[in-house]
Amino acid sequence: MSRMSYLVKEKHRAPARRTPVAPDPALPRTCVIGAGSSGIAAAKALYEAAIPFECYEAGTVVGGNWVYDNPNGRSACYDTLEINTSCPRMAFSDFPMPADYPPYAMHHQVAAYFAAYVEHFGFGDRITFSTTVDHVARSGNGWLVTVTGPDGQRTEEFDAVIVANGHHWDARWPEPAYPGTFAGEQIHAHDYRTADQLAGRDVVVVGSGNSALDISVVAAEHARTATLSQRRGQWVLRKFLLGKPSDQISLPAWLPWWVTAARLRLGAFSPATSPSWDCRSRRTGRASRTPCSPRASGTRSSPAGSRRSRQSSGSTAIGWCSSTAPACPPT
Ligand SMILES: Cc1cc2nc3c(=O)[nH]c(=O)nc-3n(C[C@H](O)[C@H](O)[C@H](O)COP(=O)(O)OP(=O)(O)OC[C@H]3O[C@@H](n4cnc5c(N)ncnc54)[C@H](O)[C@@H]3O)c2cc1C
Ligand SMILES: NC(=O)c1ccc[n+]([C@@H]2O[C@H](COP(=O)([O-])OP(=O)(O)OC[C@H]3O[C@@H](n4cnc5c(N)ncnc54)[C@H](OP(=O)(O)O)[C@@H]3O)[C@@H](O)[C@H]2O)c1
Repeated sequence: MSRMSYLVKEKHRAPARRTPVAPDPALPRTCVIGAGSSGIAAAKALYEAAIPFECYEAGTVVGGNWVYDNPNGRSACYDTLEINTSCPRMAFSDFPMPADYPPYAMHHQVAAYFAAYVEHFGFGDRITFSTTVDHVARSGNGWLVTVTGPDGQRTEEFDAVIVANGHHWDARWPEPAYPGTFAGEQIHAHDYRTADQLAGRDVVVVGSGNSALDISVVAAEHARTATLSQRRGQWVLRKFLLGKPSDQISLPAWLPWWVTAARLRLGAFSPATSPSWDCRSRRTGRASRTPCSPRASGTRSSPAGSRRSRQSSGSTAIGWCSSTAPACPPT
């Protein structure tokens, strides 16, 4: 068995598939639900193993959450979203991201990458779009899968089902709800898209996950006032360390934990050293006037092994954002 590469490089690229793989009817017939990054990875593995399968996708394109304004109506993608692990770390093990991508790809590049993956491995025609799985039920040793597509509803039998329907489309609000009343507008990070939603308003962002900190950055630039509300402290790690994507600087596993802990602290406190990068508009792909600023370089972490957490409110200018209830009161 080959060992998966830690950083996926050009030398790991598998050749494009030119001849279709014929499904072997003796193998268990499988249903894949969803064609986001998980669904297409599953579909590709089944395809290459000649396992007969259907992949049903509610939307009209692959990529799920990474497709801005996905016609499936479920994407949480906002216009400044980029990946929080560098490209060689996030890539599929046999399909590196294009060499001309920035260290951290923007959402439209990630979506294009997933579409290219399907194209490269030649199983796009095995995905049935605009078809939603409504119901899955046990039937003997198999499964009855009921779907609704352009031709209406039908039920099919499968030996196995792979559920790859994602979960970030299901926004999680605070439970129980905050006490008291609030007359302003409240939106969930899932429904945040652009700075226009925050411009000129008094914005409170609740939470300190990646969504919260990302949205806080935009609020800091566009809102009348921007407040980040955190219920506990977080370490905010820079995306770049010593001029390199920080997740590409790894230490040998045999080193004691305190060395790794020190390395993470260095990642939080080191001065910004991100290289200038030709930022392109996340939506249009057009080049912007200014290079990426280091303020957009960070990722949240609670270093494992550290029992202490540090108030990171001093880092709000480096921002990110929340999965739960950012409140945007009107001015
Ligand atoms: C704002 C945000 C930023 C993120 N950033 C990162 C990151 O930087 N790095 C990272 O690794 N992860 C990140 N994630 C996590 C993200 O969930 C994964 O990157 C990835 O999108 C998960 O892929 P998935 O295929 O499991 O789900 P999804 O991308 O959600 O895809 C699920 C697919 O299933 C389809 N589907 C759902 N239900 C049905 C149904 N009943 N019938 C048919 N089709 C259905 C949907 O239409 C969709 O296309 C982020 C998440 C969010 C919300
Ligand atoms: N590529 C990117 O840069 C990017 C951007 C956005 C999201 N993501 C990914 O998407 C996933 C979801 O991220 P997310 O930031 O949306 O959600 P998240 O990581 O779950 O963070 C939610 C935040 O809200 C806080 N919170 C939850 N309930 C609360 C309550 N009742 N009152 C106050 N605060 C509350 C949490 O605090 P506690 O920690 O104390 O619970 C946490 O800080 C993650 O995998 C993330 O990596 C990535």
